[in-house]
Amino acid sequence: MERTLAIIKPDGVARGFIGEIIRRLEKEDLSILAVKMIWMTKEQAKGFYRVHAGKPFYESVTDFMSSGPCVAMVLEGKDAINVYRKLMGATNHKEAAKGTIRHDYATNIEKNVVHGSDSPQSAAFEIAYFFNELEIFKS
Ligand code: CMP
Repeated sequence: MERTLAIIKPDGVARGFIGEIIRRLEKEDLSILAVKMIWMTKEQAKGFYRVHAGKPFYESVTDFMSSGPCVAMVLEGKDAINVYRKLMGATNHKEAAKGTIRHDYATNIEKNVVHGSDSPQSAAFEIAYFFNELEIFKS
């Protein structure tokens, strides 16, 4: 079993996709172990995306991620990181496969509706960024 952090980004929340995205991940073998809505400050968004510090999109993506509420979730399942990344589609929605969340709903490379951890190391960091152990349901 593996855990991953999923986020429905401010554009996904504002455009009313929370239910649709949760429906899609529940159809996969992914269990939701924790869920919360959070509106990050700019500093909190910078901390979350610190691996991208210095990249050209860092300021802009952290402005965007602190522009409104997000829904953060801990997902668990066999190969959960890859299963959820497949469901999301490529970062750039123009390259995302048909039927993926980003293909269907993203409007540009930044406003791409969802985030998912890209490795077990980033999942551990990202889950702990939003949730403490008491908030995560034990399956
Ligand atoms: P995410 O998977 O959350 O990881 C970093 C985010 O930065 C990415 O999704 C996009 O929202 C945003 N971003 C903006 N421009 C780029 C880019 N050129 N490459 C990667 N990510 C980008």
